[in-house]
Amino acid sequence: MERNVLNYCRILPKVELHAHLSGSISEKTMIKLIKLKTDKNPDWQLSHADWQFHLKAVKGKSLEDVFLIFQLIQEISDSEEAAYVACKDVISEFAADNVKYLELRTTPRCIPKTGMTRRSYIESVLRAISECHSSDLGIEIRLLLAIDRRTSVKDAMEIVELAVEFMMKSGLVVGLDLSGDPTVNDASDFLPVLIKAKSAGLRLALHLAEVPDKAQETLPLLELPPDRLGHGTFLHKGDQSENMVGLVKKHKVPIEICVTSNLITSTVSKVEDLHFQYWYDRKHPVIICTDDKGVFSCSLSEEFALIAEAFKLSEQQLYDLSYDAIDYIFAGDDIKNKLQNEWKVFHSRHSPEFGDECLQSAPDAKSE
Ligand code: IMP
Ligand code: ZN
Repeated sequence: MERNVLNYCRILPKVELHAHLSGSISEKTMIKLIKLKTDKNPDWQLSHADWQFHLKAVKGKSLEDVFLIFQLIQEISDSEEAAYVACKDVISEFAADNVKYLELRTTPRCIPKTGMTRRSYIESVLRAISECHSSDLGIEIRLLLAIDRRTSVKDAMEIVELAVEFMMKSGLVVGLDLSGDPTVNDASDFLPVLIKAKSAGLRLALHLAEVPDKAQETLPLLELPPDRLGHGTFLHKGDQSENMVGLVKKHKVPIEICVTSNLITSTVSKVEDLHFQYWYDRKHPVIICTDDKGVFSCSLSEEFALIAEAFKLSEQQLYDLSYDAIDYIFAGDDIKNKLQNEWKVFHSRHSPEFGDECLQSAPDAKSE
């Protein structure tokens, strides 16, 4: 990787629109959470060494392995305090990577043995977000509640009701995500739930066509239409791809592309094979995202740099990718305008295609 490209990506202000809270927890925070859990439950068995072993075993493996690590992370973040600590750390780390606007998504969990309910989980996460807003991190955060596709339609409806309630109360919950192991169940079962969410004013960011041969569940969901689409790696491939692509284009649904996630879960074998090129060439909105920066050990800057290198993008093109993503955030126009102005200031200070000299004079490429 050419040093300049990565440095430019680091100082570039960015928006992160596809980040799962538990998957974004860094190894440093995991160690903190393990300690928290052990302090409260001396009998709890998973030692640090076991944890490291599991984490390493997952790196570079399959989608199945990745979903195993999510279960482990959930085990160490099963209390209100853990959710709060995890959320604060994740936000600080994104801020340190020059992410100026972050949409976190998370599945509200109910853990009777720690007394955590879906409601108290959401409250803990919102408390962390509000505290970050009051600090000088310089990052705006919004929350999407996630429905795991393993869940029942009844439970999913409860999550929608909570999302609507917290949208009204806090203004910080702005939408709904549909995620979870893409190989299980039929996502279109959630159609009535998603219709209800949309009509209540929640924005929809759905994981779709993340694995091959999912046209049957994807087509009815694309008719909604969703406001953004997670992955969509196989929209333009295989059976009924013309219909899927047609709907995505007709409704201009932006596509969230998570490079390292696709590589680690082997849905593509190299960056050059990503669906980025297909949609970028057609001038369809694409947004570069991390998905699970903790599990996949990546940062948004690195994701931008991977794209830049593989598709030979200039600094101006990288800036445009970052700037254009502001259009697709779920927060209101006031926030959009504020971010656009911030980006323009950056652009005027760091004209694209600047050389080494300008980068070297940047005080701290990571936290400007
Ligand atoms: P959480 O919702 O904050 O607990 O974040 C972890 C959860 O996000 C996982 O258990 C999955 O349900 C979901 N998730 C994370 N990455 C992916 C992905 O690439 N595809 C589908 N679901 C995902
Ligand atoms: Zn995801």
